[in-house]
Amino acid sequence: TQGASTNIAWHHTSVDRAARALQRGHRSAILWFTGLSGSGKSTLANAVNSALFEQGLSCYVLDGDNIRHGLCKDLGFSDAAREENIRRIGEVSKLFLDAGVVVLTAFVSPFKADRDKARALVDPGDFIEIHCAADLEVCEGRDTKGLYAKARAGEIKEFTGISSPYEAPEQPELRVPTGSQNLEESVAVVLSYLAAQGVIP
Ligand code: PPS
Repeated sequence: TQGASTNIAWHHTSVDRAARALQRGHRSAILWFTGLSGSGKSTLANAVNSALFEQGLSCYVLDGDNIRHGLCKDLGFSDAAREENIRRIGEVSKLFLDAGVVVLTAFVSPFKADRDKARALVDPGDFIEIHCAADLEVCEGRDTKGLYAKARAGEIKEFTGISSPYEAPEQPELRVPTGSQNLEESVAVVLSYLAAQGVIP
């Protein structure tokens, strides 16, 4: 229930984000990947995560398919359920940020308002929105999970891009043409952005 938490104070811990950044040698950030199903969010997030890990950074991927097996297993795909899904991921990402981790989230996150709420939870610069910009035709052509075929057949309701909207970000920090560009190039674009922002030492 909204507003259920009352008589709650914020408890400050002595080890803060700045202390963690100093010890680890890098700052934390939220890399928020958004895009249609099959646009390559998980693939790109995983590849960037591997590259960061190789460089010794603390990093972690939160992926829609995985999170929906646990933390968000009670949620479906109605607009309201997606809103709650993204709200939880925003809050969890904020905790990772505070824990000094570069967190990479790979969720369709189709609604601009929900992404903007996640962005508003943290300071400017801490939220890096990365649009995996692959056309519906490309995603549907790939149909790696066979979900588009099911959605076209009416077996899956409210499927993003088919029977539920996807609101592309207007001004993401990065727009990566994951439909046409190869993975290596996409990873390089993200890494150079992170270097320019001082996330990668
Ligand atoms: S959302 O919109 O951000 O809450 O969605 P997300 O948590 O990322 O989950 C998307 C994955 O769930 C599968 N799936 C669907 N996607 C969109 N619409 C509907 N109706 C749907 N039903 C199941 C799908 O495999 C998505 O995975 P990805 O990795 O994006 O392909």
